[in-house]
Amino acid sequence: MNIKSQFPIFNNNKGLIYLDSASTTQKPEAVIDSIVQQYSNNNSNVHRGLYKIAYKTDTKWVEAHSIVAKYINAKSYKEVFFTKNSTEGLNWIANTVSLSPDDVVVISEMEHHSNVLPWMKVSKEKGVILEKIKVSEEGTLDLSHLKELVSKYGNRMKVVSVLHQSNVLGTVNNVEEIVKVAKTVGALTVIDAAQSIAHMEIDVQKIGCDVLVFSSHKIYGPSGIGVVYCKEELLNSFEPWLRGGEMVKSVEEDNILYNDLPWKFEAGTPAIEAGIGLGIALKWFEKSVEELGGWSEFKRKEKALTTLLVDGLKEIEGIKLVGGEIEREGIVSFNIDGIHPHDISSLLDENGICVRAGYHCVQPLHQKLGLNGSTRVSLGIYNTKEDIEETIKQLKKVVNIFRK
Ligand SMILES: Cc1ncc(COP(=O)(O)O)c(C=O)c1O
Repeated sequence: MNIKSQFPIFNNNKGLIYLDSASTTQKPEAVIDSIVQQYSNNNSNVHRGLYKIAYKTDTKWVEAHSIVAKYINAKSYKEVFFTKNSTEGLNWIANTVSLSPDDVVVISEMEHHSNVLPWMKVSKEKGVILEKIKVSEEGTLDLSHLKELVSKYGNRMKVVSVLHQSNVLGTVNNVEEIVKVAKTVGALTVIDAAQSIAHMEIDVQKIGCDVLVFSSHKIYGPSGIGVVYCKEELLNSFEPWLRGGEMVKSVEEDNILYNDLPWKFEAGTPAIEAGIGLGIALKWFEKSVEELGGWSEFKRKEKALTTLLVDGLKEIEGIKLVGGEIEREGIVSFNIDGIHPHDISSLLDENGICVRAGYHCVQPLHQKLGLNGSTRVSLGIYNTKEDIEETIKQLKKVVNIFRK
């Protein structure tokens, strides 16, 4: 099966090697078409029109929620509401959960700014203690440190909010175990699946978390739409953070009757075409994984490409992999002595190779590791052995330019 040919960007940019999927993934034709079709055939708002095209749009909107629920194994679409992105989902929970002075929120040293800044704000405004689980030698979260924090704070620990896969290290955290430990003191568990969503099967019931967020654009779907999964009993108990049209059934002077789940949490007109496109993207991705031989084969191929990349990088003079010898899944960050990551990225771009350079919105981890940034290569379903080989070849040329 030729995956690349299903992505118009590669037909429209001959020779393009896209290795920045952790930033955003490219979009298959099926997803792009779904957006055109929605605007061309059914365009109308959701939840309000009493005419045929509005009915069709409503049906597709609900269907998109059901596809997401099934994809992550939520019990029902009522446990899934749409936001703009992962960032909004994390801000939602930080602004929703009830916290008092001296309560404890636990994040980690490897979080994306999206899972740091909302909690820093809460900590400052409410006098909440913010702790960070340390990163272990293996590049994953140090569970013994989490256990120490549990012993130290007991049930004052109200929230544990961590990422599933690091967008810098590429390592995958044992979120099932983290949730189990957090639950011993009844903490609310939040999983940032922004990266893991496109690299592994996500089963919210198996993970056991209370909340999980991800962004459509990182799993071949449109930008402008994100997902919050949250257990139904919690959604029933939470007050909505955003308020406005369509999240209420009735508004009287002193009485508001909220809409049913999940619409209670979707105030205002959403990115309708993007939400519908997300459903199409998940269906497309699921089918593609199946055609590639299923999840284990998909992961085996991704691992083989990651190993090829790591081995190739190690041949480069002056290379330092961020995290050293750790287990990575499709994401590898590195530095080369004496060459700024921005220069590496710009010079690779001259050969049509797209990689990311900088902090990747994870400045605290870079600072902990004594780094002023890094260059990151991240894989998508369309990447091939040839992409990696060409990138290593071009990287060696970049190094030669600087070593002359
Ligand atoms: C681990 C992680 N969390 C959160 C985000 C934020 O995602 P978004 O910008 O789609 O909100 C990213 C984006 O790179 C990420 O990698």
